[in-house]
Amino acid sequence: MVVNFLNLGKQPLANNFLEIDKVKDEFFYDLEVCFDEDTSLVSLTNNVQKELMFTEGYVYHSSGSKTMVNHFSDIATKIIKKEPKKILEIGSNDGAFIKNFKQEIAVAVEPCSNFAKITQDFGYDTYNKFWNTSLASEIESKHGKVDVIFAANCICHIPDLDETFRAVHYLLKDEGTFIFEDPSLLSMLFNTSYDQIYDEHAHIFSVYALKNILERNNLFINRVEKLKVHGGSNRLFVSKSPGCDNSVDDCISNELSLRINKLETYLVFANKVEESKNNLVKLLVELKNANHKIIGYGATSKSTTIYNYCRIGTNFLHYITDTTLDKQGKLSPGMHIPVVAPNKDGIDTKVDNVFLGAWNYTDEIVAKEKYFSGKFITHVPYVRII
Ligand code: TMP
Repeated sequence: MVVNFLNLGKQPLANNFLEIDKVKDEFFYDLEVCFDEDTSLVSLTNNVQKELMFTEGYVYHSSGSKTMVNHFSDIATKIIKKEPKKILEIGSNDGAFIKNFKQEIAVAVEPCSNFAKITQDFGYDTYNKFWNTSLASEIESKHGKVDVIFAANCICHIPDLDETFRAVHYLLKDEGTFIFEDPSLLSMLFNTSYDQIYDEHAHIFSVYALKNILERNNLFINRVEKLKVHGGSNRLFVSKSPGCDNSVDDCISNELSLRINKLETYLVFANKVEESKNNLVKLLVELKNANHKIIGYGATSKSTTIYNYCRIGTNFLHYITDTTLDKQGKLSPGMHIPVVAPNKDGIDTKVDNVFLGAWNYTDEIVAKEKYFSGKFITHVPYVRII
């Protein structure tokens, strides 16, 4: 049985940063989350049509932080050592990962045409399409089967996992490896980081749920790496051959000991989410009453969920700074907070408090803003002033 356990209310598209004259036509949907008691998969109850989210105007750049650029260069270096003859990336975005490979051996799949153009211009054969079995067959007819399929923060965006994994199984060589990484459900539960939930994240994965779904598609998890990025992620090494090292058993036993397969776990989480909202609003009210000037840092897709669920707009935040050119000069989705370029000399000295919308880069941001004399606010793992 599939059970709804969390309702985050009416939400806009998380990455739909708006020109002022587009505010009237903004799209909203009901953001609800459900738990499948058979597979233990946690998913959105209502999926937004993919063509509305992944458009030619998509704004999220994988190369937007040094942390991610280094992260992709590290895994690419490890893959290159194995000398793959052909590698495919699903969801290649602005090429942060694929640019580490020679053009002759790498193929990109990217549904957002603005990004597909970037990797195409760099000389990578890029399919500007959504991943599915018919695309896998089209790619095979030109490139043959591939040694490695890589996907970062992409598989969790696709509602139909059986179709996704069937397509992977089809295109992967029998001895090939499918490597993919996505935010970890366990980390979200630990951190009460409910902002991982937004339109693009059709699922938040546990390794246990993925094992159930991969195996029914004849794919097996051989190894798991825990990653710090995106607030805690899992990288899975998957193949057509069963057999795994301790990392998989350790991960799954840990998840099961924390009752990741029980509905009660999610009901407790839902209560913590409400508590987090109440505490954040209370803190912002206190700071505002003390005449503090508060801004947001990082106009992230995650922060769209927070701002809309907690009703945080210009009532609390003067503006949000973000380094992404395509977000600057626009209004944040739903709550319409102005997004501006960061000051070249660091955060404006008149600012007292900065809410970390990009809390997953706290170390990078605190290091960059070492001259900021005010205080950062975060909601992970609980609402507090840092
Ligand atoms: P993400 O959490 O989905 O990776 O998005 C990070 C966003 O935060 C992206 O829009 C870039 C922005 N950002 C800044 O504005 N300044 C920074 O120092 C960092 C690390 C990210």
